[in-house]
Amino acid sequence: MDASGTEILEIDAVVRRAIEREQVDRGTVRGLIDSILKKDPYLSNNNAIQQWIEISKAFPKPLPCEGEFLNVNRVAADPAWFKSIMTLAAGMGIRVPNLYGYSRAYYRQPDWQSGDITILDPTAGGGSIPFEALRLGHQVVANELNPVGAVILFATLDYPARFGSKLT
Ligand SMILES: C[S@@+](CC[C@H](N)C(=O)[O-])C[C@H]1O[C@@H](n2cnc3c(N)ncnc32)[C@H](O)[C@@H]1O
Repeated sequence: MDASGTEILEIDAVVRRAIEREQVDRGTVRGLIDSILKKDPYLSNNNAIQQWIEISKAFPKPLPCEGEFLNVNRVAADPAWFKSIMTLAAGMGIRVPNLYGYSRAYYRQPDWQSGDITILDPTAGGGSIPFEALRLGHQVVANELNPVGAVILFATLDYPARFGSKLT
């Protein structure tokens, strides 16, 4: 991966199948979006729906073949956005398949203002527990003996908060 977050992906049989599946899934999603917009055409101005339309566009054909290389960008998941889509669709009696495949992502979004609970993890390792505690909006104290684990802790918890996008 380079500094802009782009990486080169070689297409093998697994990747090709994933692209084909994604192409089919996107077609299904576009059908859902059409149903939603038929029920309420004004939603075409809704930012969340516009974002959904944008990421559901069909891949250009022909699809890339095995042995070819693609420039791909990793993007962070956005469960808050997708929850708003699911809620909106549910209000119209339309069920949207779970984009992230697991429901935990939607349970609680961070409340960065709350700070009433402090989580102490004295043997935090790479920081999965402190990370989750931060996600839930708690204060966190994390400790780690192993210097490699400690560096990972800093990279996971501290540097993103302190340096933000300057890290890239
Ligand atoms: C099981 S791992 C933690 C895994 C972590 N909870 C996670 O989900 O990634 C236990 C960690 O405790 C650290 N550790 C062990 N004894 C410690 C001590 N006395 N002080 C600080 N860290 C210690 C180890 O280096 C190890 O990284």
